Amino acid sequence: MPAAVVDTFGRVHSDLRISVTDRCNIRCFYCMPEEGGAFEPVSKLLTFEQIARFVQVAAPLGFRKIRLTGGEPLLRPGVAKLIEKLSAVAGVEDLALTTNGVLLARYARELYAAGLRRLNIHLDTLDRGRFEQITRRDELGRVLAGIEAAQAAGFAIKLNTVAVKGLSEPDIVPLVRFARERGFEARFIEFMPLDAQQLWSLDRVLTADEMIGVLREEFGLVEAVPDADPRAPATEYRFANGDRVGFIASVSKPFCMNCNRLRLTADGKLRYCLFALEETDIRELLDGPAAALEGAIRENIRQKWAGHEINRPVFVPPPRPMYSIGG
Ligand code: 5AD
Ligand code: SF4
Repeated sequence: MPAAVVDTFGRVHSDLRISVTDRCNIRCFYCMPEEGGAFEPVSKLLTFEQIARFVQVAAPLGFRKIRLTGGEPLLRPGVAKLIEKLSAVAGVEDLALTTNGVLLARYARELYAAGLRRLNIHLDTLDRGRFEQITRRDELGRVLAGIEAAQAAGFAIKLNTVAVKGLSEPDIVPLVRFARERGFEARFIEFMPLDAQQLWSLDRVLTADEMIGVLREEFGLVEAVPDADPRAPATEYRFANGDRVGFIASVSKPFCMNCNRLRLTADGKLRYCLFALEETDIRELLDGPAAALEGAIRENIRQKWAGHEINRPVFVPPPRPMYSIGG
């Protein structure tokens, strides 16, 4: 067995997020600009063969968990074929995909048949007007149909919501209700400075503690679940009947010291942090010997910093917005 991929802070890396496209079919304001965007030409995207090759080298190094992201991954033609390829790689124990749900009604069954079992579906609100305000698109109907199709296909589902102060407050309780009624886990993600238009500011962050307060008022008991996996970024809470809700408190309680993630962008760059200012281009290495690729992975992780500094005045936002990094 090769040695684990460890950074200079002793963090063992086992979680790989792969973006398959930087395009999206909606335009959430906390991620995308309203118009335009700096998209890679399709010819610059890694092919499925290249992605599979990367995973064949990374999995034996201990990258057991893989998540496909975007942009919107279902915009990448034939993504089910990639899932089939990746599920077959020895050492890949967990494969998941994050989607905005718009195209799920069309693809849910195909994805399930390809071997995918876990979906994170992005949903910020059940209110059509607010959905349009947030995403600048009128697609709530398709998302809800997509969620239904995914449930019917048999997926384990988590709902992801980006929480923004002065906007998301009225959605918290309805989303948690919606999730609990269907047996999904709702997860709230604090708004991070990753948006294309630099609208982020600390006072627009709705914190996990504030949301927990709202849920306590509505549902009574909400207690922290003792951490089963200290490396998971979500802190989980449970209601009296055992239903769970998660919070990704990236801003108010950064979990960087537990971070075990590495990202591969759609255009073939390795990033050790969402907020990284440097990246490693591995495209050329994908056709070469495994040892060179392995070396590049280890070297990228070796450079990993202690963590982001969102809460400090020295913070510099990354040069790419979220859609181009990959959630
Ligand atoms: N802050 C927090 N989360 C974000 N996402 C996108 N932009 C932001 C942001 N500015 C998350 C969304 C999506 C995932 C790909 O990234 O929740 O599900
Ligand atoms: Fe698209 Fe996801 Fe960005 Fe929203 S957060 S615009 S769904 S890539």
